[in-house]
Amino acid sequence: MSIFQTIHERRSIKEFTERTVTREEIEQLLEAVVQAPNHRMTEPWRFYVLGPKARYAYGAALGRRKAKRVEDSGAAEAVILKVANAHEALPCMIASTLVLDENPEVCEEDYAAVFMGLQNLSLAAHHMGLGAHIKSGAVMEDPLARSAVGVADGERIVATIHLGEPASVPEQKSRKSAIDFTTWVG
Ligand SMILES: Cc1cc2nc3c(=O)[nH]c(=O)nc-3n(C[C@H](O)[C@H](O)[C@H](O)COP(=O)(O)O)c2cc1C
Repeated sequence: MSIFQTIHERRSIKEFTERTVTREEIEQLLEAVVQAPNHRMTEPWRFYVLGPKARYAYGAALGRRKAKRVEDSGAAEAVILKVANAHEALPCMIASTLVLDENPEVCEEDYAAVFMGLQNLSLAAHHMGLGAHIKSGAVMEDPLARSAVGVADGERIVATIHLGEPASVPEQKSRKSAIDFTTWVG
């Protein structure tokens, strides 16, 4: 598979088969993350590979936030359970964090470096016949979600990654050509 084929075929995978993702595969993918460009070589990435209990707790934290929009208390509880169970059932979930630097310029560069690394992971996963879904959102700052991950002080969760063998592959999202966004400056 050429690098261009990998780039063009990659999708955010949301449904996974029951096949487990091995520790070796996870380690191989995380090694791909740390190959990313990184100004000043700060190596700002940290990874938390979540087991079923941690996934359930993270899902419950996310579910609690979704449930706030539900008036009926029984239905709200059902939302929390559904999201928690769905997270517990994931073949693999990783929380990717950023070690916060006191210099905002370094912080911004480090944030960019982490996401360059996560794109490495997404592409490598596709290459290996796996699929990844990178997720972010306000839940990452939620004390319950942070506690589920066990994130260290001085780190910020910047994404969670769901990983597994794709059970279905979404259609490609429509995108304009880069030509539409490009100015050639003389
Ligand atoms: C920084 C970042 C955060 C994302 N957060 C979410 C998310 O919270 N929920 C979600 O469903 N998808 C999330 N996505 C995935 C995008 O929705 C997805 O990449 C986009 O719809 C294009 O689809 P594709 O990846 O299959 O090409 C995120 C992607 C990135 C890069």
